[in-house]
Amino acid sequence: MSKIISVHSFRGGTGKSNTTANVAAAMAALGQRVGIVDTDIQSPGIHVLFGMDESKMHRALNDYLWGRCPIEETAYDVTPSEVKAKKGSIYLIPSSIKAGEIAKILREGYDVNMLNNGFGELIKRLGLDYLFIDTHPGINEETLLSITISDVLVIILRPDRQDFQGTAVTVEVARKLGVPKMLLVVNKVLPSYDFDSVRQEIAKIYKAPVAGVFPLSEEMVQLASSDLFSLRFPDHPISKEIRAIAKSIKG
Ligand SMILES: Nc1ncnc2c1ncn2[C@@H]1O[C@H](COP(=O)(O)OP(=O)(O)O)[C@@H](O)[C@H]1O
Ligand SMILES: [Mg+2]
Repeated sequence: MSKIISVHSFRGGTGKSNTTANVAAAMAALGQRVGIVDTDIQSPGIHVLFGMDESKMHRALNDYLWGRCPIEETAYDVTPSEVKAKKGSIYLIPSSIKAGEIAKILREGYDVNMLNNGFGELIKRLGLDYLFIDTHPGINEETLLSITISDVLVIILRPDRQDFQGTAVTVEVARKLGVPKMLLVVNKVLPSYDFDSVRQEIAKIYKAPVAGVFPLSEEMVQLASSDLFSLRFPDHPISKEIRAIAKSIKG
């Protein structure tokens, strides 16, 4: 059975796209067929981590949502060589980076049910084992849909009071919607903090398991979304945690 994993945060800039890309790559490196959909239509970006720019993006999720093509035609094989060597694949469904296409969605909207049907089609047509959804921050229609249909919801937060409050809202929504599995990831934690205490404290506040606590990392800042951190720095503690999260989702 294939699984859908949504990666969400209440606020932006928390590390959703980087975490999604890296966990998806770690999952694919376990020999799995993995898809990633960028549903952050208003501020897309995960394609950058896979070295894709506008010139390489002929079709995007937007084309499918407007009925211009079947969703599988918007999928790009972005499998890094390290992952290919482990018999895994990664397909990315990017969201358009053209201002006109983004504005059209904001102005005219789209049928959220089409997105839902699209996820199912992708899993079927591409024979996916896992489909990751990189979401737009906050609570909106797409988020509610992706939370509803997810087997696993990964919620990312930083040690920041605004994130703490927003995460409580998301956790409450996810519980009401009956998400089968919820995992918390705390990102950008100052390296001087006691990580075990952070893990315990966050787990206690939200009564949910903490799958990872990632330090604020200078290497990550320097990498600046130009590549997949866990492939570039495989021995870094963040990369080890990323692989553990992929294994815990796989079960
Ligand atoms: N652990 C970390 N340490 C330092 N910088 C990070 C870390 N995680 C993410 N970043 C940086 O934070 C920014 C936002 O990350 P991104 O994954 O795009 O977040 P989101 O998708 O939630 O907006 C990027 O510049 C990224 O490189
Ligand atoms: Mg993002």
